[in-house]
Amino acid sequence: MNAHSFAVLRLLADGAFHSGEALAQRLDLSRASIWQALQGVEAAGVELYSVRGRGYRLAAPIDWLDGQRIAEAQGASAARFHVELHDEIDSTNTLLMQRAAVGAAHGTVIAAERQTAGRGRLGRRWQGELGGSLMFSLLWRFPFGVAQLSGLSLAVGLAIVQALEQLGVQGAGLKWPNDVLYQGRKLAGVLIEVQGDALGPSCAVIGIGINCRLSAATQATIDQAVTDLAQAGMGAVPRNRLLAAVLGELAVVLARFERDGFAGLLGDWQARHLFHRREVDLLAPSGLRRAVAVLGVDADGALLVDGGAGVETVRVGELSLRAKS
Ligand code: BTN
Repeated sequence: MNAHSFAVLRLLADGAFHSGEALAQRLDLSRASIWQALQGVEAAGVELYSVRGRGYRLAAPIDWLDGQRIAEAQGASAARFHVELHDEIDSTNTLLMQRAAVGAAHGTVIAAERQTAGRGRLGRRWQGELGGSLMFSLLWRFPFGVAQLSGLSLAVGLAIVQALEQLGVQGAGLKWPNDVLYQGRKLAGVLIEVQGDALGPSCAVIGIGINCRLSAATQATIDQAVTDLAQAGMGAVPRNRLLAAVLGELAVVLARFERDGFAGLLGDWQARHLFHRREVDLLAPSGLRRAVAVLGVDADGALLVDGGAGVETVRVGELSLRAKS
């Protein structure tokens, strides 16, 4: 996208036709600049209709992130967060990690309409879509050290599912450690990066990506089974309300985590664990894959499994459901 792309998109956001000339006049640009700006928009995956004699129209209107609407939806809890909105940055986690290192405040939130280098767990890329994803990072400062942050990523997954429940989504659940799934497909992911000393204080940059409405073209570029909130029955997804709801649940869950550790959230997490007491394949970082039975999670958020030789504690790995033979 170039410097004018977002300005043009905002004029088109109503979903109506706008002529190239009218757009050029409104933005005090040449028609060639409008055309150029729109090339970038299409390259970013936004579907655009261009009809001779009528102009340009978006295939679907965009519900932009809006600070005032987020604060209204947050109500009293808005005071706990400092929300900063960006059109396009490389990664909200990358920016917030830099800000955290130079003293950004507890509760700082950075959200972006588009990321050019969104990052996922285990070095993967995170693919979002302009207007179709919610992508943000939250800075949370803890009085204790990084050693006490085990279980944090599970706590965050729980907050997301609880926020979705609050908004009427039924059937979303968790896959250890923190993927949010709906009907076996990924709906949201969490990337947590930490800074600080073993003995404290410490802080976490909590990056969250939620698929709201992904086009078939975007879904095709993702190398795992994905779904979105529209398919989970949410219809038009109000992203501002969604952000407010997730932040609200995070505030509650993180306060409990700070007080009681993950132990205080274990029951709520396990009640939403989709693979609880299931037979799964466990992929270790070494690449070794083996069949295990999931027994549960412990008070540190580690996975408890039985691979045939008694109870084992797993701290890193990927799960997938076993295909029935
Ligand atoms: C995963 O499931 O692999 C984690 C995905 C996390 C994606 C979010 S989007 C907002 C934040 N910024 C990033 O670059 N990544 C996280």
